[in-house]
Amino acid sequence: MSRAKIIRMPDGKPDIAALEEAGRILKNGGLVAFPTETVYGLGGNALDPEASKKIYAAKGRPSDNPLIVHIADTDALPPLVKSIPEKAKLLARKCWPGPLTMIFEKSGIVPMETTGGLETVAVRLPDNEIARELIRRAGGYVAAPSANTSGRPSPTCAKHVEEDLADTIDMILDGGDTDIGLESTIVDFTSEVPMILRPGFYNLELLSGILGEVRTDPGVFSENPDVRPKAPGMRYRHYAPKAELFVVEGAVPDVCRTIRALAEQQIREGKKVGVICTEETFPEYGEGLVRCIGSRQDEETIAQHLYATLRDFDKEGVDCIYTEAFYTPQMGTAIMNRLLKAAGQKRIQAEES
Ligand code: TXA
Ligand code: MG
Repeated sequence: MSRAKIIRMPDGKPDIAALEEAGRILKNGGLVAFPTETVYGLGGNALDPEASKKIYAAKGRPSDNPLIVHIADTDALPPLVKSIPEKAKLLARKCWPGPLTMIFEKSGIVPMETTGGLETVAVRLPDNEIARELIRRAGGYVAAPSANTSGRPSPTCAKHVEEDLADTIDMILDGGDTDIGLESTIVDFTSEVPMILRPGFYNLELLSGILGEVRTDPGVFSENPDVRPKAPGMRYRHYAPKAELFVVEGAVPDVCRTIRALAEQQIREGKKVGVICTEETFPEYGEGLVRCIGSRQDEETIAQHLYATLRDFDKEGVDCIYTEAFYTPQMGTAIMNRLLKAAGQKRIQAEES
């Protein structure tokens, strides 16, 4: 295949002629990457089994890992599903368009290729004008996993998509940097009590405030390999940085001192070391490749830069990375879920002074 055509809409404003072309590509079974408010998606026609197969092939993704069907209007939901629980209707009213994916029993129009062989379907209505205008022009149903090669961090800008997929897809719509930087919260409505299968911008507290009782899938945070997450994609070690990654936990001053000591020791042994820190703690570090991810006062900046920072360290070819832990108020659960997965659950408890 020739290289993907890249169309820039950096201010996030839809270019209608380009979106018409992109919509035609999707209707004809092709693949188009597009921005959403969470991460970039790799889109194909969700109702076309051949398009879904192409998505798996382009990403190098196992075909039992289901895709999320993206819609542009809530009216598009009923045809995809057997029924919609009242609580799901309520959540859709409150959180759509937005960084929320809901799981339902699927209807007959959704091919098994799209759901990875499951009888359930994941649906999301993204809060991004380019995405919604594209979905409308593509016939209303766009299957889209994150637009990265399987095993790399999700893309938060078009450049990341280009690095991974330029030679395997038809078009990339560049809508600038994504707002949130972490994938959507997934809530399963096929169980008795709504269950969070993947934490994201919406956390347990916010969802319980709207729905009443909500549970988190025990597999999400379990370090026991026998407790398997319900979302197939949460079972893999997703993204493993080329370097060994360690998450250092504890009170912030203890964390800084511990990372400093570990980094110095590794450097003495001739290793190339990376450190992930925040604006507040940056002055505490001297040696190694020190990257500031954002501010502890503004957790959105930490989420926004997480994947780009990990990609950056892959390019720099460091041997090991130490990161501070970020248990921030709203997105801390999601940030730590992604970081610990990237670290293969390797944590270090900082010693108290
Ligand atoms: O923010 C997002 O959700 C982004 C943007 C592009 O919308 N998409 C995304 O897709 O993160 P992906 O494919 O990278 O992650 C989808 C996750 C996987 O862990 C998958 O296993 C799970 O959703 N999933 C999809 N359908 C499911 C189903 N029917 N039952 C359980 N888990 C499902
Ligand atoms: Mg993904």
